[in-house]
Amino acid sequence: MISNLQTMNGVKSVKEIDVSGKRVLIRVDFNVPIDSQGNISDDRRIRSALSTINYCIDHNACSIILVSHLGNPKGGYEERYSLRHIQKRLERMLEKRVEFIEDFEASHDEMASCSLERVFLLENIRFHAGEKKNDPEFSKKLADICDVYVNDAFGTSHRKHASTYGITEFVDTKVAGFLMMREIEAFLKALEKPIRPIALVVGGSKISSKITLLTSIMPKIDKLIVGGAMSNTFLQALGYDMKHSMFEQDFVETARSVMEEAKKHNVKFYLPVDGVITDSVENPIDVRVTPVQDVLDEFSFVDIGPATLKLFSEAIELSNTIIWNGPMGIYEIDRFSKGTYKLASAIGASYAYTIVGGGDTADAVEKAGEKDNFSFISTGGGASLELLEGKILPGFEKLDRKEQ
Ligand code: 3PG
Repeated sequence: MISNLQTMNGVKSVKEIDVSGKRVLIRVDFNVPIDSQGNISDDRRIRSALSTINYCIDHNACSIILVSHLGNPKGGYEERYSLRHIQKRLERMLEKRVEFIEDFEASHDEMASCSLERVFLLENIRFHAGEKKNDPEFSKKLADICDVYVNDAFGTSHRKHASTYGITEFVDTKVAGFLMMREIEAFLKALEKPIRPIALVVGGSKISSKITLLTSIMPKIDKLIVGGAMSNTFLQALGYDMKHSMFEQDFVETARSVMEEAKKHNVKFYLPVDGVITDSVENPIDVRVTPVQDVLDEFSFVDIGPATLKLFSEAIELSNTIIWNGPMGIYEIDRFSKGTYKLASAIGASYAYTIVGGGDTADAVEKAGEKDNFSFISTGGGASLELLEGKILPGFEKLDRKEQ
């Protein structure tokens, strides 16, 4: 049976078509974090799109039109979500003038006229109501300004929106950019040609958001390592009293069946044996380490403890492929970040093929200073999760396919 990854790997890439003299619309994902001063605090997604943009410039495309969203505007213009915040950084990176287009319909003719080496950046596409609705009329308007459509917005490829999906109905040539292909190749290597044993490390707050992943990936992995608040639900299912710690009462039964599944598939299952507990997350006064069976009344788990770190690190050291999605605690708060950062170092120090998915996890790896020690850091949050769940992402679905 052909897997979702093989299907997506079968799409044509921009390298397999002729872009010379063509108006190329590239859907990128410039949805980057912007701090209160208006500075881009992590430009990885912009950097990751450069190879496709530069390829089109170098191969004499004209009217390169970059389309992206930023944040989740309500449907109209909001200054904080304007892509103007991106324009300067992009110009610096490309070492090229980038023309900002506030209203693409009004600038239609200008973009449509082919003059070599012009790069346009459209204002946030989500300022148009038709984008998220995948409106056919809006999709067609977008299609009208290009001859070639390149989707390189991996982070948004799980969305069925006009610029990631609907547009493909109206353009004859539609292909994937280099980032899309790099992402698929990285996950193919981890999931379909893995050097075993293969470990999945999951964290984050909720079992409910990762249940499809946990059940669908079980047949493919050898070890499942669970940390973060979601491990509390598993511990509760095992009979430990999690007291004030965050856990999902409605998913205790689900947690039990995930552990059953793991047993059925011979997957070694790792849970925390100790953790950092606090009397308050916002104003911690009493913070200590305790075994999971001894959580104090009124205290909650906020990070994994040293014995857990040792246990997880040993499991990691003996793995040859490691996929990581989700932090081990509330890593955004310095005092509760040790478990996540030390785990990032343990994975970074291993000789395994290591792949990270999810915005928070990628951010934690970066903050831990470990990003160069990982084999691949995905630019996708929800997209990488859906890909691990075995889905075909809509952003790939309607692209041209390689000739057999
Ligand atoms: C992301 O940051 O995960 C992507 O840019 C998609 O954004 P969205 O979740 O707002 O669709």
